[in-house]
Amino acid sequence: MEYIKPLRIALTKGRLEKTAIQIFDKIGLDTEELKNKGRKLVLCDKKNNIEFVLVKAVDVLTYVEHGAADIGIVGKDTLMEAGKDFYEVLDLKVGKCKFALASIPSFNLREGYNRKKIASKYPNVTREYFRTLGKDVEIIKIEGSVELAPILGLSDAIVDIVETGTTLKENGLIVFEEISDISARMIVNRASMKMRKDEIKDLINKVQNVVEEGI
Ligand code: PRP
Repeated sequence: MEYIKPLRIALTKGRLEKTAIQIFDKIGLDTEELKNKGRKLVLCDKKNNIEFVLVKAVDVLTYVEHGAADIGIVGKDTLMEAGKDFYEVLDLKVGKCKFALASIPSFNLREGYNRKKIASKYPNVTREYFRTLGKDVEIIKIEGSVELAPILGLSDAIVDIVETGTTLKENGLIVFEEISDISARMIVNRASMKMRKDEIKDLINKVQNVVEEGI
């Protein structure tokens, strides 16, 4: 029998993981290994000739861009920040949240002459947002718990992800402006889309049906 390379899907570890597995269950893939992965890094669905890998969001983009994975599931936030080279084929309409400008209640973007300091894990998204506002700001890159920055006086405000709003609320911060909606997306490597068109189109259609029915 001719050996056909498994179709490799890179999934984002963490918040999106469970929902992605639910989607794959619904389209009839075997997610047993994926659910009981232990320390294993490549998880197989032998029946359907599929391999899953679970990696950090930015790494999903890297694996898919280089063709080490054919397909990726990743948040629009990561796509907006990195903007690499692949096809974005489907909005999974899960993992919904927003990019927002937030700070302590006394913050006023339009007040004062000083260049405002904005902390974010997403400097490119932040730069683009303030560019559209025509506002010159200083961007401070933070790796996590960005909400701390205005509280400790490191920045005047933050650009961050708001999902339930609990983190902001519990730390006395408020949203000043909603910047854009975010949800999970399916991305495909450009060469894979040509070489394995039928398989990938079939998978996209099945996932699209599940998304439309509601997960
Ligand atoms: C994200 C984001 C906020 C929080 C928002 O952080 O940066 O801190 O989630 O969620 P909420 O509106 O439901 O409270 P994440 O948990 O990914 O970790 P991080 O702080 O290390 O970035």
